[in-house]
Amino acid sequence: MEQILITSALPYANGSIHLGHLVEYIQTDILVRFLKLTGRDAVYMCADDTHGTPIEVKARQKGIRPEELIGIYHEEHQKDFSDFHINFDCFYTTNSPENRYHSELIFTRLRDQGHIAKRPVAQYYCEKDSRFLPDRYIKGACPNCSTPDQYGDVCEACGTAYTPTDLADPHCALCGTAPVMRESVHYFFTLSAYEPFLREWVATPGRLQPEIRRFIEHWFKEGLRDWDISRDGPYFGFKIPGEENKYFYVWLDAPIGYIATTQKFCEMTGRDFPSYWLDSKAKIYHVIGKDIVYFHTLFWPAMLKGAGYSLPTRVLVHGFLTINGEKMSKSRGTFINARDFLNHLDPQYLRYYYAAKLSGQPDDLDLNLDDFATRVNAELINKIANLVSRVVPFVNRNFSGRLSELPAGYDTLIGEMLDRVPAVRENYEAVDFSRAVQEIVAISDIANKFFQDRAPWDLVKTDLPAAQRVCTLALNACRTVTALIKPVLPRFAADVERILRIPELGFNDAARFDLTNHEVGPFERLVERVDPKKVQAMLGSK
Ligand code: 2FM
Ligand code: ZN
Repeated sequence: MEQILITSALPYANGSIHLGHLVEYIQTDILVRFLKLTGRDAVYMCADDTHGTPIEVKARQKGIRPEELIGIYHEEHQKDFSDFHINFDCFYTTNSPENRYHSELIFTRLRDQGHIAKRPVAQYYCEKDSRFLPDRYIKGACPNCSTPDQYGDVCEACGTAYTPTDLADPHCALCGTAPVMRESVHYFFTLSAYEPFLREWVATPGRLQPEIRRFIEHWFKEGLRDWDISRDGPYFGFKIPGEENKYFYVWLDAPIGYIATTQKFCEMTGRDFPSYWLDSKAKIYHVIGKDIVYFHTLFWPAMLKGAGYSLPTRVLVHGFLTINGEKMSKSRGTFINARDFLNHLDPQYLRYYYAAKLSGQPDDLDLNLDDFATRVNAELINKIANLVSRVVPFVNRNFSGRLSELPAGYDTLIGEMLDRVPAVRENYEAVDFSRAVQEIVAISDIANKFFQDRAPWDLVKTDLPAAQRVCTLALNACRTVTALIKPVLPRFAADVERILRIPELGFNDAARFDLTNHEVGPFERLVERVDPKKVQAMLGSK
């Protein structure tokens, strides 16, 4: 069977997971779960991105070793992901022997092919802090769009990648003083050597969203510049072979973390590593935010190509999260960490809301908190969960939990529901989860209306077997809806499977309507309504 490897971008190991990160992890998790539920051999790889100056500086400020700092965040991240029902097949770390091995190998292969240049560069140096000021420790205005206060590697406003000396009005991000220039020898990856390859790779149909492909065009037009892949110590990372105080820049070994994690996963599970990364048998999908497109569509495929590894099949880019139409902001109280959310609200709400808004396009996603409560209550609670929580207790009360047969004469109605199943599947396949969710809600509407119209609470008084058949049909609809929403709401699905006493649902079970003469279990409370007071409490808790 075709193997599919899916990654999310690796979170930095010096900060907490927040709702912005979760747009990506939830989206990827839904995709991977969908693929697995349709019988595909998909695996989800991720890791902490542990290297770089911020981690070195933060550990120093805390008086601990960087290894200790990244260990603390590793625990925290894993717990946050698992509490949001994000199910990696492996969540590893870039500070691993596997990652060192692949980083050195890729570097030496590129060097042996003549694609690593070495030359002195004048670089900012803070005399007060006794260190060179790389990427994130120098701030200034973006050379492309002039947005002030940007880091030295990439502009958060326009996405352009550059070197720190390109910044206007530079200052040391640690102490604010103006830096001096000092010379140091650096290693460069000569990206331009890969231009013909990259142009073709980028243009391959299905590789990138059209909007992203167009965006990359302007980087080609500007000309691909050599990429500085080294940093002077003090730095937390892998030493460059043969050097004493020079390290690989974090962005060199970070994506290699995808490979290292896969190797770890293969060692843990006995799966075949070469088929993922060495002989191009597997499909490789990277899900990323639009701020790191340059790294994933230019540097990364060029590195892989040069070093003889498999290439990504597809890079799927999503937009940023806004909350109430604006960037998350500490001062507005809308900078919400994963844990803040979990302390007040059910993670299923966020999974549902994000799914209902994700279209597979690189547009931003707005979490409007009023709309969030309204929509989750109107759809997830009042339609999807409501179906189960009306029908199951009724079946328990009136028929001791027993289903009978489907009622005669409802083939058209059943058809109206089942006819939507292929559209749900196609939309999941196209990563258009919002359309998939719309279809699922439409099926719930049909089933709820049927149950309401047939009023089994009246029917039970005059024709008990007819009422039981109504419930049998309604419960089959519950199963269909549950099987379809399972990639989004795995916990809900597991709860329904237990309540209905049915085996774990696969996607194909959505098209079945044969749950008859079966006994369901007692009802247990499913997902609760969103309490807007709890949303407020979450905002007020910070
Ligand atoms: O932008 C970020 O948060 C990086 N830590 C993403 C790294 S993704 C991959 F290339 F490792
Ligand atoms: Zn300084």
